[in-house]
Amino acid sequence: MLRSGYDKLSQWHETWHNWVVVQVARYRTAMTRTFLSRPVQQVLADGLLEANSTFFDYGCGKGGDVRGLRQLGYDADGWDPAHAPDQPKREASVVNLGYVVNVIEELEERRDAIRQAWRLTGDVLVVAARLDWDVDGSAGRPFKDGLFTKTGTFQKYFSQEELRGWIDATLGQRSVAAAPGIFYVFRSEGAEQRLLARHARAGSRPRLGIAELVYRQHRTQLEPLAEWVRQHRTLPTPADLPTAEGLIDTFGSIRAAFALIRRVTGPAPWTDVILGAKRLSEAKFEANLVVLQPLIDFLTERGRLPRDGELAETPSIVSNFGSVRAAFSLIRRVTGSDRWTEFEARARTDFLVYLALSAFAGRPTFGELPSDLQYDARDLFGSFKEACAQADRLLFAVGKPEAVDLACRASLIGKLTSEALYVHVGGVSRLPAVLRVYAGCAETLTGSVDNATILKMHREKPQVSFLVYPEFDKDPHPSLEASIVARLREFTVSYKDFSSRDNPPILHRKETFVPDDYPGRDKFARLTSQEEKAGLLDQPTIGTRVGWKEALGQAGLALRGHRLVRASGLNDLRVPETRSSSL
Ligand SMILES: C[S@@+](CC[C@H](N)C(=O)[O-])C[C@H]1O[C@@H](n2cnc3c(N)ncnc32)[C@H](O)[C@@H]1O
Repeated sequence: MLRSGYDKLSQWHETWHNWVVVQVARYRTAMTRTFLSRPVQQVLADGLLEANSTFFDYGCGKGGDVRGLRQLGYDADGWDPAHAPDQPKREASVVNLGYVVNVIEELEERRDAIRQAWRLTGDVLVVAARLDWDVDGSAGRPFKDGLFTKTGTFQKYFSQEELRGWIDATLGQRSVAAAPGIFYVFRSEGAEQRLLARHARAGSRPRLGIAELVYRQHRTQLEPLAEWVRQHRTLPTPADLPTAEGLIDTFGSIRAAFALIRRVTGPAPWTDVILGAKRLSEAKFEANLVVLQPLIDFLTERGRLPRDGELAETPSIVSNFGSVRAAFSLIRRVTGSDRWTEFEARARTDFLVYLALSAFAGRPTFGELPSDLQYDARDLFGSFKEACAQADRLLFAVGKPEAVDLACRASLIGKLTSEALYVHVGGVSRLPAVLRVYAGCAETLTGSVDNATILKMHREKPQVSFLVYPEFDKDPHPSLEASIVARLREFTVSYKDFSSRDNPPILHRKETFVPDDYPGRDKFARLTSQEEKAGLLDQPTIGTRVGWKEALGQAGLALRGHRLVRASGLNDLRVPETRSSSL
């Protein structure tokens, strides 16, 4: 009775809203952006905007993305019914429909907006919308298929699967998840395949992905060191550099911090910092490093020699060394052949992972592949047919729980529990191929989850969680801020926010999640050994922030950075030891 009364009341309320009161103030949804929007950042990160690309922002609001891209030198324009109604609607290689469809309450108009944007699209349409996990309980009243907000705007909150389904059904095209709430629709099969293959390659170069990640996080500490070495051509002592203490705390030693700088910036600017007699081939290698670098980069990424026309620098390489092959011989002699065999093996795995995952979107035929991927298939596998056969075997294995479980147990990276294998994102590209495809399947649902720190790969059910620990490097026991869970059997994605919890789950034994060469790993391990000796890690309640604080308090201990100290007087418990380089 009460319920049917309530239903009537809310129906009446909706009608009242629909016909009498609702004046949806869509123009108010546009914000003043100080930085590029998330979908535009994603497009740049995915390399979809090339120097000669054009960009059109359909529903550009106040034009923040257009301005930002113009400042970066791109040919960018936009139109908006409220903020830029007089601008022409223009065709462009990349068209962005960013957070527009979620503000339109009329279903037909919503469909019309995406169709118009698609008509203008040359290469790729980017569609971004608010996701249901963004909903704030107090956000507004139910209205049509969304909410009428307190500021008089409309917001439709999609689930990831709903957004994908709506885009695909409205355009009659198959979209690709780029990130949570962001999808791409490609005009040509080739462009889509190139992106998917690039994703499979990304981060799989040993160390560099991690090094760059960490470099970015510690830039303010590392840049003064780089500047000092640039000027003095030798490493500073701790007394020479104001940031030395922080660097040693973070990286273990100044040498380890410098090794990270060299890895990220490349060896060329620093060759004279490392002294010692050189062989003739080394001298030739170093003298020609500028010419060789593009070839080294190509070989590192593709695991094979470039074919004619693939590398713009080929003519200068040939004029210096006679042939690309001869240049490669020199590189191999100086740097050791093992690393190139390893890069070839990695490139083969990258291609298999890409090809296995391409099955979800309808695998292309050999003729549909862009030429560089055709060369990959031939040079790395002998034939595309052979590559497909191997990729199918891999995909078949991912569907078998016992194969996933075996791969989790066999993995040399990550923390294994009875429930799952936990791996830091910097180590995912070094996992067994089966687990890379397992993670890739989850990403076909979620898109790339930029801020994820750790992947939890479940062993007993097909499920991958992306765990967000923003303070992973700095905090000795970082708190969980959020989790995004992809359920592969149900095809669903869900989100859980832990940020406002008073007692969030925290991590211990951080070294177990990261690969061996992760900067700071030794420091994490030293702390764990101190904590073990103090008997702190045996206690059942330490899994959450409050329990951990209590355990520390009861033992009369505290943390200073990644060191366990006595709470009174903060004396270091550690026996002094030589800090070792982890790089
Ligand atoms: C949340 S804002 C997003 C603006 C911009 N894309 C950004 O990300 O900053 C939504 C914009 O969609 C525009 N809009 C509303 N209805 C539209 C329609 N039918 N077609 C295109 N844009 C529309 C609004 O004027 C508003 O500026």
